[in-house]
Amino acid sequence: MIASTSNASRSGTFRIGGYLEINRLGFGAMRITGPGIWGPPADRDEAVRTLKRLPELGINFIDTADSYGPDVSEWLIREALHPYPEGVVIATKGGLTRSGPDIWKPVGRPEYLLQQVHKSLRNLGVEQIDLWQLHRIDPKVPVDEQFDTIRSFIDQKLIRHAGLSEVSVDDIKAASKFFDVATVQNRYNLVDRTSEDVLDYCAAQNIGFIPWFPLAAGDLAKPGSILDVMARKYQAHPSQIALAWILKRSPVMLPIPGTSKVAHLEQNVAAADITLSDEDFAALDMEGRKAFRSKV
Ligand SMILES: NC(=O)c1ccc[n+]([C@@H]2O[C@H](COP(=O)([O-])OP(=O)(O)OC[C@H]3O[C@@H](n4cnc5c(N)ncnc54)[C@H](OP(=O)(O)O)[C@@H]3O)[C@@H](O)[C@H]2O)c1
Repeated sequence: MIASTSNASRSGTFRIGGYLEINRLGFGAMRITGPGIWGPPADRDEAVRTLKRLPELGINFIDTADSYGPDVSEWLIREALHPYPEGVVIATKGGLTRSGPDIWKPVGRPEYLLQQVHKSLRNLGVEQIDLWQLHRIDPKVPVDEQFDTIRSFIDQKLIRHAGLSEVSVDDIKAASKFFDVATVQNRYNLVDRTSEDVLDYCAAQNIGFIPWFPLAAGDLAKPGSILDVMARKYQAHPSQIALAWILKRSPVMLPIPGTSKVAHLEQNVAAADITLSDEDFAALDMEGRKAFRSKV
């Protein structure tokens, strides 16, 4: 099994917006909440231990959202890590409302987005948010109004960089007329290739691509699958192979595997130690595309 002395710096670095440098393998803080991403986590102490372990493992890119809990994820990040160690970049999001477990409804009205940016500033204990992402474009609000509002957050120095989530290439182009799109966060993994065109566009524009759900390896993680075979070949866990594949897919790729457990966090960061050969990468890529095509 891969060593526990792993460090996220081995995943390489990326500069958000051209200058905010992070190690590419980050952490998703959605799982440090209760079931349905609602309320506090089942094991609060373990969640705090997981967060405190991040800087020790070289993870300096943390993704959260006002809606995780709601607020719980941002509060715990502040409790565990504030004052933030030098170089730690926290990305949060706004634009999804919560009225119960697993219920997510977009609201993109300017006054609501502004309120949530101020809440996140307070929750995280920062004067400026490093990276703020529009969680979803609200179809009920004119899109230009939402993008113009984000532009105003940058102008007011409430946020340093802005990103989008679950968007198309056309959405990115439309938003780019209002502000520099620093990152895009879409669902993506070995067997979910819906956003392949968005990833390619981000790579061409040097926009950070944050694949959420990076570990949903599905059938390929089962015994006998190609991930299983590769895992044995590299003496690694299947989830580490899934992450190693995603890291090799593109230099703009910034995976944020989520966990509430120190042991899983340590296992995930060890993926940075794995360098897949070009042949193994291509074989996994082919199997992943095949599995994706059979689902759609
Ligand atoms: N933009 C969006 O719309 C959006 C949507 C969803 C998520 N996100 C972001 O993306 C991040 C990642 O997405 P995700 O959490 O849905 O998916 P994920 O990272 O692919 O999977 C997380 C799940 O896998 C488990 N897990 C993690 N490491 C493991 C390991 N080494 N072995 C076994 N199980 C492991 C976790 O459970 P344990 O806690 O038990 O480890 C958790 O249930 C989130 O934290 C959030 O920041 C964004």
